[in-house]
Amino acid sequence: MALAEFLTALDDLASRAGKAFADSADNVALEAARVEFLGAKSGQIKNVQKQLGTIPGPDKPAAGKRFNEVKNEIEAAFAAAGERLAREPGQGSKRKAFDLTLPGRPVRLGRLHPLTQTIEELKDIMGRLGFSVADGPEVEDEWHNFEALNIPASHPARDPLENFYLATAKVSGGTGVSPVLRTADTGKMPVPPGEEKVSAPMLLRSQTSTVQIRVMEKTRPPLRVISLGRVYRPDTADATHYPMFHQIEGLLVDYHVTMADLKSVLRLFASSFLGSDVHIRFRPSFFPFTEPSVEVDMQWNDRWIEMGGAGMVDPNVLKAVGYDPDEVTGFAFGLGVERVCARRHGVSDIREFYKNDIRFLHQF
Ligand code: PHE
Repeated sequence: MALAEFLTALDDLASRAGKAFADSADNVALEAARVEFLGAKSGQIKNVQKQLGTIPGPDKPAAGKRFNEVKNEIEAAFAAAGERLAREPGQGSKRKAFDLTLPGRPVRLGRLHPLTQTIEELKDIMGRLGFSVADGPEVEDEWHNFEALNIPASHPARDPLENFYLATAKVSGGTGVSPVLRTADTGKMPVPPGEEKVSAPMLLRSQTSTVQIRVMEKTRPPLRVISLGRVYRPDTADATHYPMFHQIEGLLVDYHVTMADLKSVLRLFASSFLGSDVHIRFRPSFFPFTEPSVEVDMQWNDRWIEMGGAGMVDPNVLKAVGYDPDEVTGFAFGLGVERVCARRHGVSDIREFYKNDIRFLHQF
């Protein structure tokens, strides 16, 4: 093809495309014009571009230059038409009117974790029985986790292998104590340079009974409190154990409290949370901080499930916090929140609670 002929074809194309874009009255027409002229497969520009190959060698640069100019012009005309239509939405984009009768898109609501829901409900139930909620730290000293609970230094429950002791060290110059997680063997844990060993060992609390002590140290009897929170034990995870779990601790100290009061409160607790047909039973047991002590079981599918421990507060514990055991008595219990929650919802493996699987969590 001769150069002159090619240039005429280009001019013709530019004016036709410009007119088509300018005349487009709505987005549908504009899109049709775009395909006609700018279409990647067989748009008119593409067709003219193919002719470039047939231009004699010496004329090629001039033809190519003009081709690019025209192509840019046409693209600019298309963009301008799009902007024009966007400015006049009434006639330009024939947008469909908003259909109010269409069903809405469902919004996936988040929800509280089943354990959090359980904790809130247990607080509610116990609140109706007159128990207020107390709190304590998860990093504890040996006084609150053991000593005051009548667990002497030689007691096997204090074995480093049974607890998450922390290598506590004081940063020299600093005020804080920086805990480093370790499971055993306080003595051999190296202290980082610039830090000095703090003598009092600390550990992640192994039971919420620590809060009994903290409350009694600050309050005079009578009192009724519960405390719910995380506890830590180096247990291997299985269907009923996990190295971290939650307990609900209850403590009632008053004049003339008996084991019968303990049983009534736990029975009310079980029937409020699990249903009136649930049975509970006590089995004789031993805890250093209660005397007598019992293991609390609840029935599930004709089987008895261990829910935790309970008993009458040991006189030594009352003495440790400055109460007079001849004047007041009390009961205490500590139950596994995971277990009551699992029993309530028929969850057979408590590890499910920690997998963060949305399909599981959405059922509660
Ligand atoms: N602290 C005990 C445990 O963790 C449970 C318990 C609490 C027992 C209160 C008696 C009284 O196993």
